[in-house]
Amino acid sequence: MQNHILVTGGAGFIGANFVHRWIATEGTNVINLDSLTYAGNLNSLDSLRNDSRHSFVRGDVKDQDLVAQLLRKYRPRAIVHFAAETHVDRAIVHPEEFIQTNVIGTFHLLEAARRYWEGLRSDSHSRFVFLYVSTDEVYGSLGPLESPFHETTPYAPSSPYSASKAAGDHLVHAYYQTYGLPAVITHCSNNYGPFQFPEKLIPLIILNATRGLPLPVYGDGQQVRDWLYVTDHCDAIRLVLAQGRPGETYNIGGCNQKTNLEVVNVICGILDELRQRAVGPRHSSLITHIKDRPGHDRRYAIDTTKILRELGWRPTEYFESGIRKTVEWYLQNLDWVNEVVTGQHREWVRVQYASAS
Ligand code: NAD
Ligand code: TYD
Repeated sequence: MQNHILVTGGAGFIGANFVHRWIATEGTNVINLDSLTYAGNLNSLDSLRNDSRHSFVRGDVKDQDLVAQLLRKYRPRAIVHFAAETHVDRAIVHPEEFIQTNVIGTFHLLEAARRYWEGLRSDSHSRFVFLYVSTDEVYGSLGPLESPFHETTPYAPSSPYSASKAAGDHLVHAYYQTYGLPAVITHCSNNYGPFQFPEKLIPLIILNATRGLPLPVYGDGQQVRDWLYVTDHCDAIRLVLAQGRPGETYNIGGCNQKTNLEVVNVICGILDELRQRAVGPRHSSLITHIKDRPGHDRRYAIDTTKILRELGWRPTEYFESGIRKTVEWYLQNLDWVNEVVTGQHREWVRVQYASAS
């Protein structure tokens, strides 16, 4: 067995950040399997173009033969499974793709992983890890005074996205229970940072504000998310991979609950300062409340006691500095934005936000 790892979805937001951070810190080879949907972009991996430690393979996690071939060829010591359809609003309109990738795709990947792992010799067999990157959304919605999600919180997904991720969790757990596949699951809260596709709240607000477009806030904007800077999530995954116990679940969160309106106003304030809007109309004047998302979860919050106690992980980035870095990154990387935004995305925005314009 090699020291390589196989990452799926490494051309997406968190996957690309993870690949960069892995190569910078661990320095061992990454095989990056990604089908390059609208959300996957090789531009996010541009600086690794000539780095022999990164091998990109365009392919689908549902293609079990391809995965088996990659496992035979590279003999990785771990699989980190990020690949997924991830946008809740798209899941409401096109749920089928979410079932295909997040459920069927995870199943095929697990099957390929199990066969590979069963064929490994003793040392490699005992070292192997399958890490499934899941979400706090599998736990559903919290009331304002309810305690944050714990690893034992019952599953209650409310969107086709979160239900498909929960199904993936159950499959992974079943492969651990039934076959003994050494699998771990992580449940993380909302991430933000560089390379996030501009359909998600934070990049959408930054880019709309810079273009003078309406800033669409669903419903009353009082929904709460627990924001985590993406590199903190990547570091947590590296730690779980190294020290997590097979069969266990680890919750990862920012300890940073904010309402959507608070987040939007912080971004507007930073843009006022960076774009010298101390006088005249503020960016916040673009805030537009629009129809709420169906089944919109009101609040997510994560209890990180387990990962802190067992693995010593805690978030290191403050929201104030992380969000400022993120706004600056988007302002400095408009070429990346223009490359990733396709006609299909423009059409999505046109239909999704028809009532905001
Ligand atoms: P993303 O949408 O930015 O990227 C997903 C990547 O997966 C893309 O590169 C896409 O091309 C690839 N992909 C999609 N279908 C594929 C398939 N069938 N085969 C191969 N590749 C495929 O997603 P993200 O925000 O980076 O999320 C990554 C993972 O982390 C997901 O599993 C998501 O559920 C989980 N997660 C995300 C967040 C968040 O805030 N973004 C929070 C918690 C957990
Ligand atoms: P999002 O970034 O889509 O992540 P998730 O739905 O996985 O939490 O949305 C974050 C929050 O922002 C969520 O409560 C929905 C809200 N939101 C808006 O108010 N307007 C928007 O245009 C989008 C995309 C999201």
